[in-house]
Amino acid sequence: MKNKAIALLATCFFVLAASVCLASAGPETINLKEKFDVKGNKQAVIFPHHRHQEKLECTKCHSTDKGGALKVHISKTTGFGNDFHKKFCWPCHVERKVPKGKSCGTCHHK
Ligand code: HEC
Ligand code: HEC
Ligand code: HEC
Repeated sequence: MKNKAIALLATCFFVLAASVCLASAGPETINLKEKFDVKGNKQAVIFPHHRHQEKLECTKCHSTDKGGALKVHISKTTGFGNDFHKKFCWPCHVERKVPKGKSCGTCHHK
């Protein structure tokens, strides 16, 4: 009984610490179409930001461990050959062998 209570307390503390920690880590999800003012008819990509933080260090994508500018400069945002595909999202998904990491529906949800 006592052990259970302690385990519960420990869990709560952990969850609380994690949520406080993530609160300073930027948005949970980011609508990239809106954020980068992308023109086109594809469904907007809602980027699961916190999910990436669980698996990767901030500096895989950002210039510092607090966030800041992206390391990859996104200049071309239109068409299939855009910089998200070519320079940012796809290369890492290929490197990390993310299942269906290049399938359209993985990122462009209906
Ligand atoms: C897989 C790539 C990736 C990782 C890893 C990642 N981020 Fe981000 N983050 C992004 C993208 C993409 C954006 C949206 C574009 C932007 O704001 O420049 C963003 C936006 C942010 C923003 C909001 C910036 C704004 O102007 O609204 C903050 C804060 C942030 N990230 C912090 C972090 C922190 C802290 C970590 C590590 C705990 C982290 N990010 C890990 C890709 C990533
Ligand atoms: C530095 C490496 C890296 C970058 C850059 C990156 N990703 Fe990922 N992404 C991953 C990894 C690793 C996973 C698998 C995470 C997991 O298993 O929870 C993932 C998973 C995802 C998923 C979830 C797939 C599923 O199974 O539900 C989506 C959606 C996604 N990424 C979108 C993006 C988009 C959009 C970008 C570019 C804006 C991007 N990612 C950039 C490493 C990256
Ligand atoms: C790893 C994530 C990811 C995958 C997989 C992906 N895209 Fe994208 N794509 C993006 C991001 C991010 C943008 C820019 C933001 C946005 O449009 O919401 C984008 C933008 C686009 C654009 C330009 C904008 C527009 O609306 O015309 C086209 C076209 C596009 N993607 C087609 C595709 C097709 C076709 C596939 C499948 C072969 C695909 N994408 C797979 C992330 C992805």
